[in-house]
Amino acid sequence: MSSIHPPPSPPIFYSFESPNELSEKLAAFIVKAQKDAVDKKGRFTVALSGGSLPKQLNKLIDNPFVKWDKWQVFFADERCVPLDHEDSNYNLCRKELFSKVPIPEKNIHSIDVSLLDDLEELADAYEKALISEFAQKDAARFPVFDLVLLGIGPDGHTCSLFPEHPLLTEEDRWVAYIEDSPKPPPKRITLTFPVLNHALRIAFVAAGEGKADVLSTIIDNPEAGLPASRVRPSHPGQVYWYVDNAASAKVKYERSEFKL
Ligand code: 6PG
Repeated sequence: MSSIHPPPSPPIFYSFESPNELSEKLAAFIVKAQKDAVDKKGRFTVALSGGSLPKQLNKLIDNPFVKWDKWQVFFADERCVPLDHEDSNYNLCRKELFSKVPIPEKNIHSIDVSLLDDLEELADAYEKALISEFAQKDAARFPVFDLVLLGIGPDGHTCSLFPEHPLLTEEDRWVAYIEDSPKPPPKRITLTFPVLNHALRIAFVAAGEGKADVLSTIIDNPEAGLPASRVRPSHPGQVYWYVDNAASAKVKYERSEFKL
């Protein structure tokens, strides 16, 4: 086998009329990704973000094609607060999604809140949870998520990977912690770039004119090096953009016609 890997594929960019259409198409995409994964290995590994993302998954609710018992859900980033705290991404996902669908609680991998006073331990424990899902099966140096769902911040951050932060150069850890997040709350854990860049599918989701400026920088000017531009999974991984026309108004990059 050749040791030369093809370069990462260019992102596939979908822009939809409305946030509603975006959510519909995103749900169809997720169902297809789930089917591919379940057909192949009987489970579907997904990482979810906080922010506006969980609400945009509403078309998965009451969707007869979703096999919730096959999902293994991790958090792309999580705020280090109790699970019932209003800042918790787990809590947000629970309110918007998990409480409305029959997903087994054991398939949702939340942080160990008994370790909130020691973020290094907490991040290590989360990494161990990932290792028990991925390591034996994939025998790889990094986990290979079937799907990672990401948002983008106005400064170009994604997960809890912020511009100019030392974590942008992390090469070894799967899960890292930060105590100085510029977006509150300050204490968080996050998947690292090596993990994002080994995923099979990354879907960025963004809607509304508030994302227009940063989206055009991320997509049309990747040399600026914003964190979201650095998500380029290695072959055969693929980045998809699911945005609405308000968010993509300033983007020059070519739109693809939606297809599954
Ligand atoms: C978090 C989120 C974060 C989010 C972006 C976009 O925990 O803060 O996971 O990374 O995805 O900040 O947020 P919005 O979707 O609210 O704009």
